[in-house]
Amino acid sequence: MTKNTPINSEIVKSKLAALNISDMDKASIREVVQVVNMIEAETGQKYVRMEMGVPGLPPAQVGVKAEIEALKNGVASIYPNINGIPEIKTEAARFVKSFMNIDVKPENCIPTCGSMQGTYSLFQVAASISEEQDTALFIDPGFPVQKQQFMVMGEKFESFDVYNFRGEKLREKLESYLSKGNINSIIYSNPNNPTWICFTEDELKTIGELANKYKVIVMEDLAYFGMDFRKDLSKPGEPPYQASVANYTDNFVLFISASKIFSYAGQRIAVVIMSDKVFNLNSPKLEARFKIKGFGNAVVYRVLYALSSGVAHSAQHAMAAMLKAANDGTFDFVSEVKVYAEKAEVMKELFLANGFKILYDKDVDQLISDGFYFTICYPGMIAGELLYEMLFYGISGITLQSTGSTMEGIRACVSPVHPSQFGDLKERLEQFYRDHKIIENKK
Ligand SMILES: Cc1ncc(COP(=O)(O)O)c(C=O)c1O
Repeated sequence: MTKNTPINSEIVKSKLAALNISDMDKASIREVVQVVNMIEAETGQKYVRMEMGVPGLPPAQVGVKAEIEALKNGVASIYPNINGIPEIKTEAARFVKSFMNIDVKPENCIPTCGSMQGTYSLFQVAASISEEQDTALFIDPGFPVQKQQFMVMGEKFESFDVYNFRGEKLREKLESYLSKGNINSIIYSNPNNPTWICFTEDELKTIGELANKYKVIVMEDLAYFGMDFRKDLSKPGEPPYQASVANYTDNFVLFISASKIFSYAGQRIAVVIMSDKVFNLNSPKLEARFKIKGFGNAVVYRVLYALSSGVAHSAQHAMAAMLKAANDGTFDFVSEVKVYAEKAEVMKELFLANGFKILYDKDVDQLISDGFYFTICYPGMIAGELLYEMLFYGISGITLQSTGSTMEGIRACVSPVHPSQFGDLKERLEQFYRDHKIIENKK
């Protein structure tokens, strides 16, 4: 018997069929977006859309102003220095000192067209360090496009889901990969997209110690810098600081993107920060491949030069100004994005009150922070089935399958959801709960 669901079930089914989607587990994020767009257009009803990780806030005005100013001053006609304008390099190093209490050199801070270009360039050079160390290691769940970067490059990676390997268990799991001798780098995001877990200090120490032991580079993706809202990370020069593996190894690369912390995704600007050790790393293979000495020089003068010959001049001025204002304490970027945590708190409660569970729920012994994302599951349902059912109730997300998770669940992104939709979310979840009897222990 067809249930009377908030969204007309015939329309949902017909749009899924029109896009040839028979298994939601295999649907890409773009396909989910497309199918929901089509259903919304036909029904005139609005979904609680949680699928896309887009900033839900206006761009930081200090950046917009600086960018307009730079354009008025004529930067558009001039090629920017591929290494980055001096202001962005100085302010990036200051930012790392102010908010992480880590010392890095301005010359090792390089702007890129978003962190996407940063990771692509760094993965490429890291893959060329030695014949033996030809493989990267992802601590998953992770950001799927980075795996796509490996596919495009034709380079190798391995990965594991950290769900069952938190705390003490992380060391043995990591060593089982690193001891084989083929790993050149370890990649993860912290806070993590898609689960919002954050590694504890002990876990970061483990990663750092093993990176030293096995001579691998740690690529720490800080796209959500400062957003572990369990601590107040908003005060420059004052603890607590953004947690980082850089406290435990000098084999690190940090990726700081303007997309989420400054809501500046459209301008494609980020900074890659290499430790001095990584910047100056050299090897016969690297030199033979890139015809230049040094890891940092290969990144800048070979890969970035080949990809885009630098980053839009005005966007560099914007990022420099946003970093400077944060460093000076005149722009509290952490408070600006705290609204994500406030929304997550309400939304998580609504899910929990209606039979759902938070899937990646803890950092060892502490509940995860509220923030940009959280993960949900519904007892007895596999991820594809859950997302399919949710569509009839006007709620969307993406399954964790594409993120390297081995768990059956959905990533919920809070940013596109407006608080005015919380009423709808509550009603729809209540009906979902009434309509879906929970069968515990069903596999
Ligand atoms: C973990 C992670 N890394 C990198 C990015 C991309 O950053 P950018 O917009 O700077 O390329 C994102 C964006 O969603 C992300 O979630």
